[in-house]
Amino acid sequence: MQITWLGHSAVHLASSGQSILIDPFFTGNPKHPEGFEDGLERLDVVVVTHGHEDHLGDAARLAKKYDATLVAQYEICMWLNAQGVESVQPMNTGGEIEVGGIRYAMVPAFHSAGVIRDGEPKAMGDPAGFVVTAPDATVYHAGDTCLFSDMALIQRLYRPKIGFLPVGDRFTMGPAHAAIACNEFLELDLVVPIHWGTFDLLHGDPEVLKRDVKRGRVHIATPGEPFGL
Ligand code: NI
Ligand code: MN
Repeated sequence: MQITWLGHSAVHLASSGQSILIDPFFTGNPKHPEGFEDGLERLDVVVVTHGHEDHLGDAARLAKKYDATLVAQYEICMWLNAQGVESVQPMNTGGEIEVGGIRYAMVPAFHSAGVIRDGEPKAMGDPAGFVVTAPDATVYHAGDTCLFSDMALIQRLYRPKIGFLPVGDRFTMGPAHAAIACNEFLELDLVVPIHWGTFDLLHGDPEVLKRDVKRGRVHIATPGEPFGL
């Protein structure tokens, strides 16, 4: 599996001929690597963890441009379907589906979800995380969440080896809490901090995660630079 962090919570996965984007926040993301989309020849699946603008991002535009399938909670699928995304795979927490030989499990996250339209909040379902199981790797993208001990259940059910955990603090857990997730609940070989450094409001420092994690290797990724396990 080839993995590319694209700043914030945006991640590209390439495995078994499938090209997958999770939370593709490109437009307005100051850490988005310039030129990434020019090199993106195909896109099969777009995953959205929850209905906040910094995760919905360019999902609708990219799904339409590449004729990709949207994997997300029911409300998000229906909303983007009405915006012209034709191929949708609506699901909900606890469910697992297969698209293109890769499995997608929706798991809990503790956060909120909604978009603001004309100054009014519009509910957009519940937040979630995803476990993506490809033949060569199993990846847990936690979405936006606080620390919760049922991450142990995610470990038991799906046994992910690669984890994308938010560490920016304020809107999600910070690095000290993410380290507890790694040390006590998950058994990851590779931990990649996300949702940090995008904006000044996100003050969580990924180096703290690197210092505190005792189980697995922490990779502080550079946006646009691919890596593997
Ligand atoms: Ni959020
Ligand atoms: Mn967010």
